[in-house]
Amino acid sequence: MSKYKRTHMCGELGLENVGQKVSLTGWVQRTRDLGGLIFIQLRDRAGIVQTVVNKDVTEELFKEAAKVRGEYVLSITGEVAKRAENAINPKMSTGYIEIIVESLEIISKAETPPIYIEDDLNVSESLRLKYRYLDLRRPVMQSIFMTRHKVSKVVRDFMDENGFLEVETPMLTKTTPEGARDYLVPSRVQPGNFFALPQSPQLFKQILMVSGFDKYFQIVKCFRDEDLRADRQPEFTQIDLEMSFVDKEDVMELNERLLQRVFKEVLDVDIKLPIPKMTYKEAMDRYGSDKPDTRFGFELKEIGDIVSTSDFKVFADAISGGGLVKAINAESCSQKLSRKEIDSLGEFVKTYKAKGLAWINLTAEGIKSPIAKFLKEEELNSIIERVGAKTGDIIFIVADKAKVVYDSLGQLRIELAKRLNMIDKNIYNLLWVTEFPLLDFDEEENRYVAMHHPFTSPMDEDIALLDTEPVKVRAKAYDIVLNGYELGGGSIRIHSQELQEKMFGLLGFSKEQAWNKFGFLLEAFKYGTPPHGGLAFGLDRIVMLLTGTDNIKDVVAFPKTQTASCLMTNAPSPADAKQLEELRIKTDLEA
Ligand code: AMO
Ligand code: AMP
Repeated sequence: MSKYKRTHMCGELGLENVGQKVSLTGWVQRTRDLGGLIFIQLRDRAGIVQTVVNKDVTEELFKEAAKVRGEYVLSITGEVAKRAENAINPKMSTGYIEIIVESLEIISKAETPPIYIEDDLNVSESLRLKYRYLDLRRPVMQSIFMTRHKVSKVVRDFMDENGFLEVETPMLTKTTPEGARDYLVPSRVQPGNFFALPQSPQLFKQILMVSGFDKYFQIVKCFRDEDLRADRQPEFTQIDLEMSFVDKEDVMELNERLLQRVFKEVLDVDIKLPIPKMTYKEAMDRYGSDKPDTRFGFELKEIGDIVSTSDFKVFADAISGGGLVKAINAESCSQKLSRKEIDSLGEFVKTYKAKGLAWINLTAEGIKSPIAKFLKEEELNSIIERVGAKTGDIIFIVADKAKVVYDSLGQLRIELAKRLNMIDKNIYNLLWVTEFPLLDFDEEENRYVAMHHPFTSPMDEDIALLDTEPVKVRAKAYDIVLNGYELGGGSIRIHSQELQEKMFGLLGFSKEQAWNKFGFLLEAFKYGTPPHGGLAFGLDRIVMLLTGTDNIKDVVAFPKTQTASCLMTNAPSPADAKQLEELRIKTDLEA
């Protein structure tokens, strides 16, 4: 048994322990030398406790205590005592007591750390990531990982109670079709051949359904080489699941209960079921996004019909060119946004490719608008009426191709809500987005691509359209959205080999190409396939939202930076010449 056996964790001690002799271990948060008394705050995972070394105990002890510095690792024995009335610190959970030290051992010394171990840290993220082990010592960070652990535990318990089996699927595998670039791993024994790290366990979980596993889940790492954002990491974790003999309602119902349980057990927040549903079309029309934040209004309104014959060419041309003209009524914003701020919003929408931002400001002194002079009076009045604007409101308008209008106004409403402080952080608006299009036309590649993935089933009532107007076909796909974040997504899958082959055909794969890539799935489908469907949540994103951070790196113990590198280990790094030779890999980079 370790000689450093502890009786308690530092942060757990309180008035109920007064009079007890305790042994503690931990890191030194800070020391204060008052001459005859040395105060040492000791920290462990559970919290911080104050210990006091009195000169009168023994000279040896006092000398040792005088050597102690921040972040030293100590073992301490002493008695828990009530603090004097004037020394009570009600802000600390251990603030009513202190430990009167009887013996102390310095287990390990520490150099002055390059970052402070405290919650309100004001240093660059790169320094935090380089010294991640110190950063992770901070109580805020430890609390995030306790929440993360709790989420995984609740998920595992829930899935187990509901008859799911956790099965591991390979990390060294074949490319999977989630639409990002693969991370490749070279094979030494088969030079020139590569494994791909899985973008998700999609194909394996479908095959597990063919194997009769009925209900599968896995908390699993996935790898995607894509442009990183605040809510994306190149390796991230999914709560992945698949079920047999189900329709989309069954999958959604199960996942609602799962989320309800997680919110209750982790945050003590009650989520009302069923979670509201909105079709993809409605989400785009009203919010310009397939993951709308519904905590605030500023909804998009169509005004194309009003301005299609307008003298203002920007509007009329957008409509004749097949585009859209949409408006947002920024209610009560007339007083709140200065001219300069309105102009800066014009710049803001340009980052989403809008060519401009037209506005109509309904001030108490009358209408101010750079486009009013181009509009007929009845056009202006119809716009005002359509968006329900009144004195004190500002109407913002974008005319462009549909995608640009959705992106720019969809982002503008979020930006407005942020700038005007309209977002209530205590609201959790969960929403299902359903009836996604099956296909998306990729202009660059000049072909259809699967909106979710190629195994997603079309809606039964739209199957006939596959031959005539594939772009109109809706899918049995659903995303779960929370406050503007896509938490998860899934679908009912195609379980017939013929329909699957047809789908591959639409995506531009020849039969040979399809069999070459996904032959093992098509082959498996020949031998008795249950109807099946599933979903995957982003675990990191769930933890982000539960812990109130908007930076995914905060919830990943050892995250990657924008350039997909790890500042602590310096990965990725060059391989040894010998390793490359064994793998028969030559690079054309200068050494
Ligand atoms: P999808 O690609 O929608 O579906 O991924 C599911 C969820 O995983 C999370 N996610 C990410 N989180 C962090 N960083 C990333 N780079 C990242 N990429 C995705 C998101 C997303 O909603 N196989 C299907 C699921 C299915 O059909 O069952 C899939 O992977 O929260
Ligand atoms: P202009 O005629 O280019 O000076 O534009 C007049 C106003 O229309 C300016 O306020 C522009 O920001 C705005 N505008 C220009 N292009 C667009 C567009 N595509 N959608 C909405 N407003 C636009």
